[in-house]
Amino acid sequence: MLIRRSGSCCARALRLSTHHHAIPMAVPSPLSSHLKPFSSFCHPFPRGHGFKPFPQFLSSSCSASPFSSLSSVPSPKPDKRFKTPVAAALLEIGGVKIARDDVVRESDPTNNVPDNIFSKIGLQLHRKDNHPIGILKNAIYDYFDTNYPSKFVKFDDLCPIVSVQQICSLQNFDEVLVPADHVSRSYNDTYYVNADTVLRCHTSAHQAELLREGHSHFLVTGDVYRRDSIDSTHYPVFHQMEGVRVFSPDEWKDSGTDATSYAAMDLKICLEGLARHLFGAVEMRWVDTYFPFTDPSFELEIYFQENWMEVLGCGVTEQDILTRNGRKDSVAWAFGLGLERLAMVLFDIPDIRLFWSTDQRFTSQFSEGKLGVKFKPFSKFPPCYKDISFWISDSFTENNLCEVVRGVAGDLVEEVKLMDKFTNKKGMTSQCYRIAYRSMERSLTDEEINQLQWNVREAVQSKLHVTLR
Ligand code: PHE
Repeated sequence: MLIRRSGSCCARALRLSTHHHAIPMAVPSPLSSHLKPFSSFCHPFPRGHGFKPFPQFLSSSCSASPFSSLSSVPSPKPDKRFKTPVAAALLEIGGVKIARDDVVRESDPTNNVPDNIFSKIGLQLHRKDNHPIGILKNAIYDYFDTNYPSKFVKFDDLCPIVSVQQICSLQNFDEVLVPADHVSRSYNDTYYVNADTVLRCHTSAHQAELLREGHSHFLVTGDVYRRDSIDSTHYPVFHQMEGVRVFSPDEWKDSGTDATSYAAMDLKICLEGLARHLFGAVEMRWVDTYFPFTDPSFELEIYFQENWMEVLGCGVTEQDILTRNGRKDSVAWAFGLGLERLAMVLFDIPDIRLFWSTDQRFTSQFSEGKLGVKFKPFSKFPPCYKDISFWISDSFTENNLCEVVRGVAGDLVEEVKLMDKFTNKKGMTSQCYRIAYRSMERSLTDEEINQLQWNVREAVQSKLHVTLR
């Protein structure tokens, strides 16, 4: 058996999309090599609810070897010093025991979980009261405890690995009505442990099981996993909080409105209050959107630092989800928010990698209950840019490239950006990416960067079936 269980049911996962009809067809299928991609969809899902980039945070400084390309760099021998450490062999989350070999299986073509992702499972930043993510979670808890005393049950230790053995396959998608051809199911976007098991890509994965268990008011906080590009606001592991409230018919029958309008109105009042609790008296607006599991669906935006910023995604739960899970006559609302996105703004944290830093100069700046203390950068270390160009194959995707770069350089990679692309007369396509290396904690040496870039080139060539130029 893949995932050993000693506790209650595990987790499921998924993600959103804003324009269902615009999503290209994609059905997961076994991979022919570890990172063999799916095909070449471009960015299917804006990480709407939690994860649009904040341009004001993108680094502008440039020094140490700016825009150099590796062609002028000598070729050092591979150096083990810069390899990402292999994670602890056995974890336990919410009573579920997880071994590394359960999750990372290089020889299995249906598995695309690398070691650096496995090493994040179990860290549970949202359960650390002195960490910005934990502080924010607790502030949201306070809002619900004050406004709905003893109503919302909180879950923050549900296992992020979803096994298939229960009611239907891929509960993680199916149970929240994600269509079979939805691109979020692709190997290019989601971490598969095997063809039927994934690392959850959103906390909505838990909606159905908790409804079945009879909960009517609940908050689920957890780490979620998505394959994606690399920049200062995107990291393949981040944290979400989900909220669900179920109403029974006697709650809306005297309201003079229908059940859906009643739930939508209650949802908006609740979330506007939450936004004020976190951000103070800000201007807000509601934007219509699409999620497979809610109808109508909305995003809440606030006007903050002279920009409209998306705070969360939400909506009235699809009736089918309620009916399938024993709540036929009810109506419900649900929301999901990205904690990093909000914490970056509330604490002035300029780069998403910092959340994972164990450097005391970062960790010591935050303490329990202190929401919105502004982070003081301890120093600004220079970035270093290196370019890599190659002829791509049909199977090339940017997410796969980012995975390989992250696998070699870990958190020293700050951004991977497409700089140039052309197709020659023979139909061969060349792409040039610029990799920004920068440590949050120290200055990197030229030797170290050259070594990293060398290792990146080797890994890109061997794993991605491209021809370096
Ligand atoms: N699960 C959605 C996402 O990850 C967010 C969401 C949750 C939207 C609940 C609506 C209702 O994008």
